[in-house]
Amino acid sequence: MCLAGATGWAGSELARAIAATSDIAIVSAVSRTHAGRRLGDVIGEPRLTGVIQGSAIEALTVPCDVFVEYTKPDSATRNVLAALEHGAHVVVGTSGLTDGDFSEIDTVARQMRRGVLAAGNFALTAVLLQRFAEAAAKLIPQWEIIDYAHDDKIDAPSGTARELATRLARVHTSGPTIPIDKTVGLREARGATISSSQVHSVRLPGYVISLEVLFGMPDQRLTIRHDAGSSARPYVDGALLAIRKVSTLVGLHRGLDAVLDP
Ligand SMILES: NC(=O)c1ccc[n+]([C@@H]2O[C@H](COP(=O)([O-])OP(=O)(O)OC[C@H]3O[C@@H](n4cnc5c(N)ncnc54)[C@H](OP(=O)(O)O)[C@@H]3O)[C@@H](O)[C@H]2O)c1
Repeated sequence: MCLAGATGWAGSELARAIAATSDIAIVSAVSRTHAGRRLGDVIGEPRLTGVIQGSAIEALTVPCDVFVEYTKPDSATRNVLAALEHGAHVVVGTSGLTDGDFSEIDTVARQMRRGVLAAGNFALTAVLLQRFAEAAAKLIPQWEIIDYAHDDKIDAPSGTARELATRLARVHTSGPTIPIDKTVGLREARGATISSSQVHSVRLPGYVISLEVLFGMPDQRLTIRHDAGSSARPYVDGALLAIRKVSTLVGLHRGLDAVLDP
């Protein structure tokens, strides 16, 4: 595989994990600031002997089966399209791509008969939370979502909270008993309405990343919660699964669900 963003927080953790596998090899890597150096020297893993290239186009001169995109939204779409045109399947971990970007990627992936798997959160427990919440929403009419993060996370709500609200709305909409615009007092106290879910974002020192969905019925309730620590380790297993399975897909698939079941 080719790994774009191999020196970053998420990419370097993935690269170190791949060094320990026997079925995946990194044949090329991308980072602008470390171009020309050995990947293993930059991220402290001597088994990674490949030389870093300054752009995806240069890295793609080495043939690869799978291209992994873990850079930034402003370079991601360009990299993904170049990888597809070179005949690679693609795993996208980068968040912040627009629906327009995804539509263009899907068109090219179908033309090239290649698979693209894009997931804004590869943590298996976050993926399972979404699945279990969808199952609960089939039976429980009302829920609210709480997204917790460190105090310096500037975006709110988190991408994963938005994705959960969108997925639950596909099951059905969650209307509060008292409509939000009939709130007496501060409407903001009821959170943001996203795809009919009320979403509340907590940003405090001491918190890392958590997502909670609360389901309530008369005299009973259910809480489903995912917590991630401060390392990039939670995102590795899902990304490895995506890398191993993406060649079974054609076109764009969003979310790890496409490859979760054996
Ligand atoms: N899907 C998931 O589960 C998951 C988990 C964690 C993070 N993410 C997302 O993954 C992305 C990366 O996050 P991160 O925290 O790892 O970021 P980061 O630490 O800033 O790393 C970014 C990496 O991309 C490279 N890069 C940046 N711009 C580039 C460009 N224009 N061309 C080539 N290489 C470029 C950087 O190297 P140079 O600066 O040297 O070029 C670096 O290797 C973000 O969108 C983040 O939200 C997703």
